[in-house]
Amino acid sequence: MQEQKLKILFFGDIVGKAGRYAVRDFLADKSSDIDFVVANVENASHGFGLTEKNYNELSEYGIDCMTSGNHIWDKKEILNYIDDAERLIRPINYPEAQGRGYGIFETPKGKIAVINALGRNFMPVFDSPRYPIEKVVETVKQETKVILIDFHAEASAEKMCYAKYFSQFGVSALIGTHTHVQTADERIFDGQTAYITDVGYCGDYESIIGMDYESSLSHILTMLPSRFEVANSGSAVINAVTVTVDAETGKAEEINRINIKTVLQE
Ligand SMILES: [Fe+2]
Ligand SMILES: [Fe+2]
Repeated sequence: MQEQKLKILFFGDIVGKAGRYAVRDFLADKSSDIDFVVANVENASHGFGLTEKNYNELSEYGIDCMTSGNHIWDKKEILNYIDDAERLIRPINYPEAQGRGYGIFETPKGKIAVINALGRNFMPVFDSPRYPIEKVVETVKQETKVILIDFHAEASAEKMCYAKYFSQFGVSALIGTHTHVQTADERIFDGQTAYITDVGYCGDYESIIGMDYESSLSHILTMLPSRFEVANSGSAVINAVTVTVDAETGKAEEINRINIKTVLQE
């Protein structure tokens, strides 16, 4: 059988319009060897949550799977459409929630399973991600060996430890999200699992993790409640990784970071 390499493009948390438009422009001339596009969308609608309009817009840009995190519930209308949003998943370890914690998607090189989970260190109280992930990995393995986890968490060690742990279960990639800060520690654990502690964010370049500097500064200096606004300077950053996986074995072969500044077109 011919060797099949499946190449995944994964965008860090898309923050507001700057992030959406930067991703739109990036995907408009993405390299032709990309087989599957994933993006974390928990901040895509004005920094908090995801409207149905923006869900449809991001689908049209060519995002095949949208992962999320703790902010996915911030726009209340999510509850009206998440059960029908085929491309969107939410973290698997909410004790009770609408939507799905994983999905199996078609690519030109066969199927891929994508799981979304929340970490627990320095985060609100969630169920352990361990058992739900183990259970889903065993289930999806009957359909595909290509398995990707978006692990949405604060603490580096928690993300890294779970990546090494899940390498034993044949997971192809564990990509960290949530901090919006890209780390330079991409690697492959045990010849199996591609990993980065945090892929970063896609959003305004002249910002504090996507949000307006003045509103962030006011909160940092006073520690009083502050209304965070999305920044809009006209330039944006794209933080992403590409991961190449052997579609037959599910083993990751390569992970590369993308960190570029762009000027936004309206
Ligand atoms: Fe985020
Ligand atoms: Fe988050």
